[in-house]
Amino acid sequence: MKALVLAGGRGTRLRPLTHTSAKQLVPVANKPVLHYGLEAIRDAGITVVGIVVGETGAEVRAAVGDGSAFGLEVTYIQQEAPLGLAHCVLIARDFLGDEPFVMYLGDNFLLDGIAGLVDAFRASDHDAQILLTKVTEPQFYGVAELGPDGEIVALQEKPENPRSDLAIVGVYTFSPAIHEAVRAIVPSARDELEITDAITWLIDNGRRVHSHFVTGYWRDTGRLQDMLECNRMVLEAIETTVRGTVDAASEITGRVDIGPGATVRGSVIRGPAVIGANARIDGSYVGPYTSIGEGCVLEEAGVEYSIILADSVVRGVSPLTRSLIGRNVEVTRAVGLPDTHQLMVGDHSRVQLRA
Ligand code: G1P
Repeated sequence: MKALVLAGGRGTRLRPLTHTSAKQLVPVANKPVLHYGLEAIRDAGITVVGIVVGETGAEVRAAVGDGSAFGLEVTYIQQEAPLGLAHCVLIARDFLGDEPFVMYLGDNFLLDGIAGLVDAFRASDHDAQILLTKVTEPQFYGVAELGPDGEIVALQEKPENPRSDLAIVGVYTFSPAIHEAVRAIVPSARDELEITDAITWLIDNGRRVHSHFVTGYWRDTGRLQDMLECNRMVLEAIETTVRGTVDAASEITGRVDIGPGATVRGSVIRGPAVIGANARIDGSYVGPYTSIGEGCVLEEAGVEYSIILADSVVRGVSPLTRSLIGRNVEVTRAVGLPDTHQLMVGDHSRVQLRA
């Protein structure tokens, strides 16, 4: 069995970070979300992986390389434009050959991995297996309508009026029958070849399509609140590891992972939290569910329930909460300008200041 990992797309809901970076590389507990997926694939016993990349392909290649760091053999497949998930299957035809495969959307996160799903598929004679889970906002996902015996009656892609609250999770397993389906369908109203349409084609043509409920924690990390929640879940499971230095004037409570070369002085860290390598935390407060990237500097600052990417600075500002801050960002006080806010933010940024 092979794996096809989709790491293209535009990531519009995570702008401005995705203007300069792939959405699949936004870190969760200081590790790109894509890396969790690759590890889950390896842990399911699959080693041959094709990664479909788009405009951000160079960055994905740099973050994954030939896959050997994950125990995988990775081939890259370039998609010229984000023409849909089924289009990815179409262009991966040569790579996939006639083997069954798992298709994994690179921004999806499953805390319990995918070994159970992959094993169930291996033991079955199904042509496709999809994963479903109940969500509160089904309109943002592919949605499945099930019949009285649990059979799939219909699949809709991001419907305005969803017929159920069962979202399709971004991990699918397919037999080679899917190749005929992706060739048979036509682009949707949003001009993409939808995988939901290809699966519907399989059902309509008498193929065996099975659905499976995800019981463990799952998130599509395409939006800010999902990234923060995913970060929280991963941090819930970290162990205390201190490889940096913490002075006597600091107070560390709860589980905290402090990376090599990081220094913490006169600060309070309340875990679970992770502080990246070579970060410097001075006179600051880092609250629960916070990931501070490598090389960041916090001075007289407060941050909680947030993700800060590498090499950013927060100085004299507190408290920051529910925030996602990119690389090389500076958040500081507007010195000499009382009662004002001074901003220089990128396109599609969102800034929420205290009223
Ligand atoms: C894709 C699929 C959708 C699925 C979702 C899960 O949407 O098209 O059916 O529910 O992934 O993450 P996307 O989030 O890529 O727009």
